Amino acid sequence: MQVTHPLPPEIDPANLPRHIAVIMDGNGRWAKKNSLKVALGHRAGTENLREIIRNCSDIGVEALTLYAFSTENWNRSKTEVEALMQLILDFFHSEIDELDAKNVRIRILGDKAGLPDPQRQVLEEAEERTGSNTGLSLNIAVNYGGRAELVRAAQQLAREAAAGERTVESIDEAAIADHLYTKGLPEVDLLIRTSGEMRLSNFLLYQCSYAEFVFPEELWPDFHVPQLHRCILEFQRRSRRYGGREE
Ligand code: IPE
Ligand code: IPE
Ligand code: MG
Repeated sequence: MQVTHPLPPEIDPANLPRHIAVIMDGNGRWAKKNSLKVALGHRAGTENLREIIRNCSDIGVEALTLYAFSTENWNRSKTEVEALMQLILDFFHSEIDELDAKNVRIRILGDKAGLPDPQRQVLEEAEERTGSNTGLSLNIAVNYGGRAELVRAAQQLAREAAAGERTVESIDEAAIADHLYTKGLPEVDLLIRTSGEMRLSNFLLYQCSYAEFVFPEELWPDFHVPQLHRCILEFQRRSRRYGGREE
């Protein structure tokens, strides 16, 4: 299959981030700027998703994690929450066949049980249908909170210890990682948050420990493959030291 946007020559294909996480922010401001209702900003914010996902798959990124709905986003108006929930259904209905055909494995990060039935079903079906695919790992964070994820991991580990299935001493960094929604995925290398905001908003707190952060100014609906490549280039210019010293 043809690569839609080949990597520009200044990007080193041997040094791509293995795991890219994206906080897709700025749909509301985009709608306002274009004198549209917020729901249309969110809709515009799904139209670039296909090219971004396809490009990550084409260039050989291992994992792409998208923040779609946080545990705090329930605080928005009923109308806005409903619009976002509808978009989840629309996205999977229109994209699942192509994603599956591209060997993409879908995983949902977050508390699916707290979602309305139709959304929960669609997400579970997508996970099931693509569960044995071996290409890009596409993780979609829905009803996700980083703190809630850590609480859940702590409770699971405590339960295992109380049941005598593990010792307290066996609870190490790897054990915690194994009890997160991202079990088995590489740590986040590159965290992108669009719209110029510079905060994590409860996203992947544990997994971003050594991520490089890039904060492009574009509002999410204006973020396309060339902007993604610019973020990757910025990532490649960083010097990752992990607490050590460069040679
Ligand atoms: C991000 O866009 C999408 C979600 C939170 C679901 P926003 O709706 O937060 O956009 P701004 O921050 O209001 O511009
Ligand atoms: C984070 O963006 C959540 C998603 C992009 C899904 P928010 O717009 O909700 O975050 P805050 O409120 O600005 O921190
Ligand atoms: Mg926002």
